[in-house]
Amino acid sequence: MLKAQVLEAVEAIRKRSDVVPELALVLGSGLGPLADHIDGVTIPYSEIPHFPVSTVQGHDGVLIVGTLFGRTCVAMRGRVHMYEGYSAQEVTFPMRVMAALGATTTVITNAAGGMGDGMVVGDIVAIEDHLSLAVAAGFDPLRGPNEPAFGERFVSMNKAYDPELIALVQSLSPMVSRGVYGHAIGPSFEPPALIRFLKQAGVDLVGMSTVPEVIVARHMGLKVLALSAVTNIAVSSVNDAHVTNEDEVWEAVKLVQPKLLTLMEALIPVLPRA
Ligand code: 6GU
Repeated sequence: MLKAQVLEAVEAIRKRSDVVPELALVLGSGLGPLADHIDGVTIPYSEIPHFPVSTVQGHDGVLIVGTLFGRTCVAMRGRVHMYEGYSAQEVTFPMRVMAALGATTTVITNAAGGMGDGMVVGDIVAIEDHLSLAVAAGFDPLRGPNEPAFGERFVSMNKAYDPELIALVQSLSPMVSRGVYGHAIGPSFEPPALIRFLKQAGVDLVGMSTVPEVIVARHMGLKVLALSAVTNIAVSSVNDAHVTNEDEVWEAVKLVQPKLLTLMEALIPVLPRA
């Protein structure tokens, strides 16, 4: 069922482009403009069978297949989130399609709240591990019958974030730190008590995406690099006057955009070939 749907989407994309992409890019809030550098065809999600379409304003919804900085790629400009009401299986459908198109490495980006020591707005962090209470509680995209054509029943999450790719990105930009990404479905921002709880558990960043995509990418055998842009500092006390809102996140996104673009321009040409 899932396999048939993925193949239908692949077929629709192949009708528009014969590029076999080696890279799957997920351009979250902030990295959308990287897509302007891709030489290829743009396909609205609404024209791809079974693709979920974003309900949130400001989130794009197009797939671009082509060449970026000399490498073949398929890129998602915008993604859907579980807070919109989509299941973990639905939000990861596009990752399955990109893998089925031929991608062997994925670079995933997101905007996140920072809570690690010394973290400031504008930081770029390479994710090295994640903590998701939602996944642990059952919102795992691999829940349900396994499709053996896609991957194994049980998938290790140790080194899910490729250590070589993390080292590579840090060698290109010493400003990039590493951190543990805490995943919450949202859309409410984490209350201060949850931020304190996650901090004690070793979490450095919080956000509402990426983890389901990473799980499915690993299921399908892709190498994963995930980068967070810190758009705000997560509030950890009710005595803190700061109230996190969407506007400050978008403002900060604009600030980090050029930095992330420069980093991707250095990174993409030197990503190891599978
Ligand atoms: Cl503080 N939390 C979550 N869940 N997502 C975010 C964020 C915070 N800041 C940006 N995205």
